[in-house]
Amino acid sequence: MLEPDRFWLNQNRGSDLLFDVFLKANRYPLRIKFGGLLRSKTLQADTQTPLWPIAQGLILGNDTAMLASSLVLGIETTCDETAAAVIERRSDGTGRILSNVVHSQTEEHAAFGGVVPEIAARAHVDLLDGIVGRAMKQSGVGFAQLAAVAAAAGPGLIGGVIVGLTTAKAIAMVHDTPLIAVNHLEAHALTPRLTDALEFPYCLFLASGGHTQTVAVVGVGNYVRLGTTVDDAMGEAFDKVAKMLGLPYPGGPEVERTASGGDPNRFAFPRPMLGRADANFSLSGLKTAVRNEASRLMPLQPQDISDLCASFQAAVLESMADRLSVGLRLFRERFGAPHALVAAGGVAANQAIRGALQDVAAKAQTRLIIPPPALCTDNGAMIAWAGAERLALGLIDTMDAPPRARWLLDENAIAPAGFANTRAGF
Ligand code: KG4
Ligand code: ZN
Repeated sequence: MLEPDRFWLNQNRGSDLLFDVFLKANRYPLRIKFGGLLRSKTLQADTQTPLWPIAQGLILGNDTAMLASSLVLGIETTCDETAAAVIERRSDGTGRILSNVVHSQTEEHAAFGGVVPEIAARAHVDLLDGIVGRAMKQSGVGFAQLAAVAAAAGPGLIGGVIVGLTTAKAIAMVHDTPLIAVNHLEAHALTPRLTDALEFPYCLFLASGGHTQTVAVVGVGNYVRLGTTVDDAMGEAFDKVAKMLGLPYPGGPEVERTASGGDPNRFAFPRPMLGRADANFSLSGLKTAVRNEASRLMPLQPQDISDLCASFQAAVLESMADRLSVGLRLFRERFGAPHALVAAGGVAANQAIRGALQDVAAKAQTRLIIPPPALCTDNGAMIAWAGAERLALGLIDTMDAPPRARWLLDENAIAPAGFANTRAGF
């Protein structure tokens, strides 16, 4: 007789349901296929079969299976945040954060004006077990209660990714808990389902130090990239402009602050890619224009710096609004009206950018959702949540899951013409 102690709906394809059933003392699932007869009412009535425990966890409707609520630990170490969190995903698909502990390594890297991969990896090694311990303690959840442990397995700085993923594997092995290797970008993409219970499909604008992408979020594991930067990421451009103007690291917030006292019209910087039919971004030409102007003005007076920041930011805003509007139009053509425009990544903390996003969303007749700042920037809750979303669909990983420096969210995406970005996730 089968005695499943864990089970997941694996796929809900046409009238067939596929389950992965975990038998006691067996790490690997037994795949079971149910034909159309076992749907809805029949499933309820089928109390005599040894597989009844499977039915207990299921509510069918709308072609979506909902399993009992699950608690998931998430670990994030892809860049310069060491983070861990425990979340609950309830059977109705809504979520709750039980703990969310983030250590930002800003101080460790400040002297170097940017993230130093080797220092980041070592800091993750030093910090991670303490952070995981705090996240577990604050959540009040024991390891034995976890339905899964999720870690960001990329894309990112490979040393840090290895630290987080290996830690998750160790926890999964010791506590005999499923492992979920999460794509960091997917975690950003799914966050509004945790914060706002947002329905698919929606349009994501992700702008951070390493990424600038417009993505159609069609379902869990179903992402279509509509636009990307062909060179620098938006946050990277802010950071580089800050550095060339002698502002401290991290540069984005400094540029925003300094821009507030400046004249956005003093310098007519280029608006990259304006009016193009595709939805891609470009930032490096703009950055070079700022550098050239700054060299011409040397030595810079405080007002020059403010005006350069304000004029740079104005150019970013105009280019971003145009590129994103095209992205939303492409979205509509392929997927119909989006349920929202979602902004994520550190750059979404910028108030001027938020204002421009609000206008873009209004023009596209959709609403703007920006998760709270602590969930926009890198954190463990988003990894745990993405893990829980994948777990609910039976998408779990084995101990062979590799750490990945590069990992496209949209596996079918091709590099755009003129692509010159050597960073992860083009
Ligand atoms: O998402 P995030 O915290 O980390 C990753 O890059 O993954 O994003 C950090 C980036 C940095 O480049 C930072 O300068 C930028 O977001 N950023 C900002 C602002 N706050 C953070 N850029 C412009 N304006 C801001 N207020
Ligand atoms: Zn991120």
